[in-house]
Amino acid sequence: MENQKKFLVKFSPSGKSIKNPPGYNLKQAVLDAGLDIDSSCGGVGTCGKCRVQVKEGDIRSKKTKFISADKASEGFVLSCQAEIKSDLEVDIPEQKKAKAKIAEGMYKGISAEELEDIEIKPWIIKETIKVKEPSLSSGTSDLFRLKKSISENLDIQDCIVPIDLIRKLPQRLRAKNWEVTVTVDTENDTLIDIRSGSTDKKIYGLAIDIGTTSLVIYLVDLGQGKIIGTASEYNPQIRFGEDIINRIVYANRKGGLKKLRGAIIDSINDLAGGLLHSSNTDPGSIVSVMIAGNPTMLHLFYGVPPKYIREEPYVTVANKFSNSTADEVSIRHIKNAIVYSIGGIASYLGADIASGVLASGMSKSKELALFIDLGTNGELVVGNSEWMMGCSCSAGPAFEGGGVKCGIRAVDGAIEKISIDQGTYKAETGIIGGGKPKGICGSGLIDVIGEMYLKGVIDRKGRFNR
Ligand code: FES
Repeated sequence: MENQKKFLVKFSPSGKSIKNPPGYNLKQAVLDAGLDIDSSCGGVGTCGKCRVQVKEGDIRSKKTKFISADKASEGFVLSCQAEIKSDLEVDIPEQKKAKAKIAEGMYKGISAEELEDIEIKPWIIKETIKVKEPSLSSGTSDLFRLKKSISENLDIQDCIVPIDLIRKLPQRLRAKNWEVTVTVDTENDTLIDIRSGSTDKKIYGLAIDIGTTSLVIYLVDLGQGKIIGTASEYNPQIRFGEDIINRIVYANRKGGLKKLRGAIIDSINDLAGGLLHSSNTDPGSIVSVMIAGNPTMLHLFYGVPPKYIREEPYVTVANKFSNSTADEVSIRHIKNAIVYSIGGIASYLGADIASGVLASGMSKSKELALFIDLGTNGELVVGNSEWMMGCSCSAGPAFEGGGVKCGIRAVDGAIEKISIDQGTYKAETGIIGGGKPKGICGSGLIDVIGEMYLKGVIDRKGRFNR
């Protein structure tokens, strides 16, 4: 196997290259080289988006309706349906996603007014305490004395001290004459950090929302309940499949789960590192990380196989994952911070909609409310303080290119607005970024149906009114 011949595949315009064995899948080679490629269907040949042009070399590829005979003669192939047969030079057309940026200022965080009625009561506290020094007449262990002091000062009985902190205990207790600053999770009675002497009492947390399409991280001052920084990026798992189902399918492949998890963890590390740097925040002051996302995203984040979410009877491995340290889930920079996940509800109703319900306050209100989260995966919950029902369905890709011929994301060139003149039935379009339209995005589709109904072009059932 070691001596098996490998072919050199060079990609333009990136200039990257990679060696692969004969018969290796070309799209996989693109991904292995760290390049992006559109791939709504996850590589089964049904979306036609992973087109590349082979400029030099031999490949074996299946015929497809997405490539005309003319284009095929110019070397165009669906990379997911092509196998490498020689050294290659491959051109990857510019990717739509690469141009799409998460709108600047889109994630403004929670405003001061919204926080007015909320009691800021962090369950993680940071306090300076004195620990009783041992003597010949009082020879109990360092750990025993630390726990006693925590119990007397912070009212936490038998605080759990992780082994990593026990290792540091003798030095930290003695360095500043038995005065230490402890950071404690009071919900779980667990010590998060211990420092010698009296240190800065500021504590920060990261709130991470892993969406199917986007990843957003908030840096929060836990003492004041203030969002002090935000960073966002596309979820890099998109290159393995745009929607949940395609990612589950990819996770089932050999090595697929590891790649999906690696992609999101790398992205979280990059964004979190940048956020800490730009806000000048000491990584040691980050004490907690709260993760929200739909069940599949959380399974992939924790490296848990999501396979059974898509197989009857559609169950998750867990709706709420156990607490862990940042180090245990490979989040760099802040290894002692505790990582919590918000509890999900069921197979496709996750921590994301649960957080929305919680934040909106609908679970406390007697009035009936409808909460809609229309992302790549759409979820809705209806109910009040006495009862609630929820459901979910595919939303984003259903509108934006997965099954609609001219459907595209809300990027430059997408038709997002349509108005129809009642007299002439002439349509006017609003295009993101102006210029010529390239396709229609979700809001454009909703608008066109609404306008056609309002102007009598279609009837209530959606039939054309001839
Ligand atoms: Fe290749 Fe969809 S056709 S990824």
